[in-house]
Amino acid sequence: MDRFTSITGATLYRELAMGEPVVVLDVRTECEYERQHIPGSVLIPLQSLPLRIENVPNSGVPIVVVCEQGLRSVSAGRLLAEHGFRALRVLEGGLTCWPGPTTEGLEKNGTHTHGLAPSSFLIDNFELLPRGLALDVAMGEGRNAIYLATRGFDVDGVDADPARVCRARTASRKLGAPIRAIVGNVEDGTYILPIETYDLIIVFNFLHRPLFEDIKDALVPGGAVVYQTYTVGQARYGRPTNPDYLLEPGELNEQFADWEVLRYREFDGPARRGIPRRAIASIVARKPK
Ligand SMILES: C[S@@+](CC[C@H](N)C(=O)[O-])C[C@H]1O[C@@H](n2cnc3c(N)ncnc32)[C@H](O)[C@@H]1O
Repeated sequence: MDRFTSITGATLYRELAMGEPVVVLDVRTECEYERQHIPGSVLIPLQSLPLRIENVPNSGVPIVVVCEQGLRSVSAGRLLAEHGFRALRVLEGGLTCWPGPTTEGLEKNGTHTHGLAPSSFLIDNFELLPRGLALDVAMGEGRNAIYLATRGFDVDGVDADPARVCRARTASRKLGAPIRAIVGNVEDGTYILPIETYDLIIVFNFLHRPLFEDIKDALVPGGAVVYQTYTVGQARYGRPTNPDYLLEPGELNEQFADWEVLRYREFDGPARRGIPRRAIASIVARKPK
């Protein structure tokens, strides 16, 4: 009997979107991976797997093996099981049945970017958040908006990039975690946040300073903001480097100085082992009633 099971694309996406620890091991060729892959997946092609078993992450975190059609991953699953790997699953139907976003290129092999997993700051502070109607500003492909929807929020998500909004909409539907995904530009006046509408507004990895006032106005009294983005220290590590997109030390805290600050942190360093260094500030603050 095979010592591994299968997992559907929707279930894998939900697990990744909920931030559950999963190693996604891609056993296709380098060319296939370069064309498109699940963000954060680790590439070890099937033909080199017997020689590279020691490169397979073996920290006890469940592994999902993926290939293009779901055939090579079964061979890889058998091989890994023979080498003592447990908690193994293979992606049913392979990448062809994957409902979530993909990314391209080789350089991010195994590195989690803003792919699927929601922000750990959002997950960690979830219990502080007032429930109800939420808005994710500059939501990208909707990783945080979808997370909120899976946790019972009624969610609007807005982003200026139609392709990202489309991917967010598709993914949220396939996951049964509906969001209202809106194409809108929050900088040029074509998308205006409605006054005193939202119980929660979240913003991750986006800065347009005039928006702070709009966010404050758009929350109902007692509503909360969760904001996390890069600080000036980030320019040492990579993008963004434009000071317009980087917070000064203490700036985020000052923005909400007259609100109840429920959490605040500034962080400079690697978030987890193997994750690049980054400099960020994060806040959860409640609008006065
Ligand atoms: C670094 S991504 C962050 C995405 C998402 N918040 C996350 O953390 O995964 C920045 C996002 O801001 C969006 N964006 C940039 N300028 C914008 C604008 N003026 N209005 C709305 N969205 C904008 C981009 O399209 C992109 O999806």
